[in-house]
Amino acid sequence: MKFVLTQEQQDIRDMISEFAQKEIAPYAAKIDEEDQFPREIVQKMGKLGLLGIPVPEERGGVGADFLSYMLAIEEISYASAALGVILAVHSSLGTLPILKFGSEEQKQRYLPKMAAGELLGAFALTEPGAGSDASRLSTRAVKQGDHYVLNGSKIFITNGGEADLYITFAVTDPGQGANGISAFIVEKGTQGFSVGKKEKKLGLNGSATTTLIFEDAVVPATQLLGQEGEGFKIAMSNLDGGRIGIGAQALGIARAAFDAALAYTKQREQFGKPVAEFQGVQFMLADMATRIEAAKLLVYRAATLREQGLPCAKEASIAKLFATDTAMAVTTDAVQLHGGYGYSKEYPVERYMRDAKVTQIYEGTNQIQRIVIAKNLL
Ligand code: CAA
Repeated sequence: MKFVLTQEQQDIRDMISEFAQKEIAPYAAKIDEEDQFPREIVQKMGKLGLLGIPVPEERGGVGADFLSYMLAIEEISYASAALGVILAVHSSLGTLPILKFGSEEQKQRYLPKMAAGELLGAFALTEPGAGSDASRLSTRAVKQGDHYVLNGSKIFITNGGEADLYITFAVTDPGQGANGISAFIVEKGTQGFSVGKKEKKLGLNGSATTTLIFEDAVVPATQLLGQEGEGFKIAMSNLDGGRIGIGAQALGIARAAFDAALAYTKQREQFGKPVAEFQGVQFMLADMATRIEAAKLLVYRAATLREQGLPCAKEASIAKLFATDTAMAVTTDAVQLHGGYGYSKEYPVERYMRDAKVTQIYEGTNQIQRIVIAKNLL
């Protein structure tokens, strides 16, 4: 096992870290406060190739390995978790299903533009009645001649309203459970397809989370992704990769909170010395650093397995579970170490804590991750 990044991975990480610190970090608090989708920054990311890191060069992407892509999510999330999830959902759940399951025509049509950030992707699985129980969908797709007619609604869709393409899951064969679900590439502007309510959230403001409505939406049969009935497997296999990405996002948030806490405790004086000189504070810092290192190894290992095409559902869930619990614990301790200032918006740690919470919930709650881990063990 190698525990060092290759020169190429280090270069990508450093380049993205520099971009994130210059182009994102100074605006992160404003993005959170105003809750506006950071379109200009997303466009800049697209121009730099950051929206196509794992896409092969011949398809218009950077062609970097999966771990490099994870490093990108981590560094972007260190600056702004909202931008981290915009990137993660666009690439892991919007773009990679097309790369893996798309027809040649679909790949040619969409991948170069998605990699360049000219088209933004989203993933429409969750419904009001089907969250953790993801195969219990009620959105229906009925084939009529050369198109499908979709009816139903989706909820909590990241990049909703901002994305140009939605990988949408609907039931084509009722009674077949998970095997009766199909995936479609639904374009913004499709007749009968509209964007509904935008959620007001605890954190991750700036990342759009909306409902989607399908009312006799007419989707050409050429937009079917993979085969009929393959949809649930497409969703689950992409979530394996997506969950590692959420682990990387959590890692970025945790590192940001830890660095803020370390800096603060070194300069904040009480009882005549910096609070970092008290052993009670040192033990908290030591525990935070230990958890972050462990999370990093789990996320990087799962990414390496994914890159090598090895089974990684269990490792992805372990990485997601541990890294996101780490982000919640570390950000909560970072607020604690800032005392009263930690609870104020003058310091970024309260934002980190609010942003961390959702990482334990989306792309499968941490209870669902335990189900996946246990299933793989048994
Ligand atoms: N890869 C490929 N196929 C898989 C798979 C995987 N990782 N996991 C399951 N499958 C296949 C199974 O092999 C099975 O196929 P067969 O019938 O041919 O054997 C089929 O899918 C059904 O599998 P299960 O019986 O295990 O399915 P289940 O109904 O028990 O559900 C679950 C399993 C793990 C609970 C699943 O429903 C799940 O992951 N739920 C959580 C949903 C989720 O993560 N949602 C995230 C939404 S996206 C998001 O959050 C993005 C964002 O905004 C950030």
